[in-house]
Amino acid sequence: MIYQLLRPLIFKFDAESAHNLAINFLKYLPRFATIMTLDKDYDNLKSRVFDLDFKSPIGMAAGFDKNCEVVQVLEKFGFGFIEAGTTTPKPQIGNERPRIFRLVQDQAIINRLGFNNLGSEAFLKNLQLIKSNATKIIGVNIGKNKDTSDANSDYLALMSKFYEIADYLTINISSPNTKNLRDLQNEQQLTNLLQALDNLKVELKEKTQKNTPILLKIAPDLDFDQQQQIADIVVNSQISGVIISNTTIERSQNLKSNYAKEQGGLSGKPLFEKSNEVLRNFYKLTQGKIPLIGVGGISNADDVYQKMRSGASLVQIYSAFIYQGFGLVEKIKKDLSLLIAKEGFKNIEEIVGIDSK
Ligand SMILES: Cc1cc2nc3c(=O)[nH]c(=O)nc-3n(C[C@H](O)[C@H](O)[C@H](O)COP(=O)(O)O)c2cc1C
Repeated sequence: MIYQLLRPLIFKFDAESAHNLAINFLKYLPRFATIMTLDKDYDNLKSRVFDLDFKSPIGMAAGFDKNCEVVQVLEKFGFGFIEAGTTTPKPQIGNERPRIFRLVQDQAIINRLGFNNLGSEAFLKNLQLIKSNATKIIGVNIGKNKDTSDANSDYLALMSKFYEIADYLTINISSPNTKNLRDLQNEQQLTNLLQALDNLKVELKEKTQKNTPILLKIAPDLDFDQQQQIADIVVNSQISGVIISNTTIERSQNLKSNYAKEQGGLSGKPLFEKSNEVLRNFYKLTQGKIPLIGVGGISNADDVYQKMRSGASLVQIYSAFIYQGFGLVEKIKKDLSLLIAKEGFKNIEEIVGIDSK
């Protein structure tokens, strides 16, 4: 309600300034957190995935809190988990502005940020400050610097840095705005990268006595053969889960907004079907053996229900949060809890993948 009133004002700013304003506002919000808390527990929405306990299956997707500055506020908005990042080893400024566009008529966003972030040192300091009081699961999404010649070394360095403190780590090889990043999804490169990560995991597990789940985040723009290759490689690796999907570089003919031709990754409603198709394929290709996180175009409880029936154990949201504000997550939780009960299921675990079997 408050957000619906504020939205016309917020949308007067260009998308990136509005985002920066929101982050700064949220940074100072913890003081009001007691009043603002919107976080009800629903027994039928609780689940255990990757050996972690999730109070709610709705997570904040990567990219909203790139530097891990507002996790403790996002926790109050009902998210069951928050994925901060993408963080890169060194700070970088990203691409030239403007680089985020709201496609309001299409309920979508195009961004070509290019991993603008304060770097992994600043991220780590922020995470260290809040981790001991965290009430939700915190994932760290890692990526490579633009000017790195050896991508694998960036991922290995970041894995070592965050392995102990993160609840889970996401290997982001699917953002469309860093040149050649998505090539890491190719058979040979992915095999090499995951082998190196697996070897490092053995060492880190021994050293920390902790088994941190490592997830892989993939693009929606993969043909079926590529999906099959990735699924085979993942099943034969130590990867604990796959996040499907990042933004798309494809543009459907039906987009109405003037910004539709801007370069970058498209998210929001137009991504829903496309990311669901990859999700369904992956559930089948991995025979439901590896938990999947469904992301792309979710804006209500029906969308979450469909993602779960397609194979998602958990889901994430970004664009709809920009359009509908911080009341959205609680609304989805309430509606989803009722929907599941109405359909005769005891909990969300019962619905995962039933349309993809
Ligand atoms: C402005 C913006 C920045 C993003 N930055 C990242 C990022 O740094 N790392 C990442 O893995 N995904 C990033 N994403 C992708 C989201 O995490 C998510 O995969 C995508 O937006 C689809 O979800 P949605 O349709 O609910 O927005 C970004 C998305 C947006 C809109």
